[in-house]
Amino acid sequence: MQATNTKLLISGNNTLAIKREDLLFPEISGNKYRKLKYQLAKILASETKTILTFGGAYSNHIAAVAAIGKKHDLRTIGIIRGDELKNSISDNPTLSFAQDHGMNFEFVTREAYRQKESMIFLESLERKHGSFHLIPEGGTNELAIKGCTEILNTEDAQYDYICVPVGTGGTLAGIVSSLLPHQKAIGFSALKGTFQKELIETHTANKNFEIIDSFNFGGYAKIDEDLVRFINEFKSTHKIQLDPVYTGKMLYGIFDLMQKQYFKENSRILAIHTGGLQGIAGMNQTLKKKKLPLIL
Ligand SMILES: Cc1ncc(COP(=O)(O)O)c(C=O)c1O
Repeated sequence: MQATNTKLLISGNNTLAIKREDLLFPEISGNKYRKLKYQLAKILASETKTILTFGGAYSNHIAAVAAIGKKHDLRTIGIIRGDELKNSISDNPTLSFAQDHGMNFEFVTREAYRQKESMIFLESLERKHGSFHLIPEGGTNELAIKGCTEILNTEDAQYDYICVPVGTGGTLAGIVSSLLPHQKAIGFSALKGTFQKELIETHTANKNFEIIDSFNFGGYAKIDEDLVRFINEFKSTHKIQLDPVYTGKMLYGIFDLMQKQYFKENSRILAIHTGGLQGIAGMNQTLKKKKLPLIL
């Protein structure tokens, strides 16, 4: 099992620590490593050496799959949402990184992308690209959740609350499955809604979790000056970089909830840093265009 270090951020009435999953590996960091670990083992043991997966313009998952492909000599194909992006790969830090790591792209319209789970669409991809291992958007499937059950280890038994950012809910599902009876998990949804609850409930009978979407900042990858300021102040105080899409929103939410005395007195809170730092360069391009302060 891969262990990560934990840093104490705040001690006092409640203590807050952060588990540095972002430091796991430079290019396959945080929950990406956990989600891909068992899928990779399965692929390496099989005949088919191609991975096909899906993602948006700045997807952490696309970057991680490309890096894994390069490291293990696997062919990788990324089906990318937004056919307008095909003419601007070199301007997009995530796509350039993936391309430099050998990923082949197929850019599709948003409408076509919505069909990504349909058999007709998948068969058409197979006719074009040959056989492949399909990894869903965000990397979430049974094996990904299994990998995420390894995030917490015996040293984390001291914590009462485990906080984790939520996209598809796969990472939270793994965490909830591995909680001890005295622990509660809190998922901070990076997008509007708490629909991920359903996925978690299909994977575990443990009901000791909650998903909060009050800190989504208007939706997936939406941010404002307040969040940028928080991320920059957090970095200057704690010397830890947060990303704007997932971990920044979660930590913003944890501090807000601590102020509102949401957590029981004298509790120990652990935030999971799930990585995602490769997305900062792309977000800064957007912030620059909008003449907003940049993430430092
Ligand atoms: C950095 C980061 N944190 C958290 C998440 C959320 O993970 P999940 O989709 O498993 O909820 C993602 C997306 O996979 C991510 O890239």
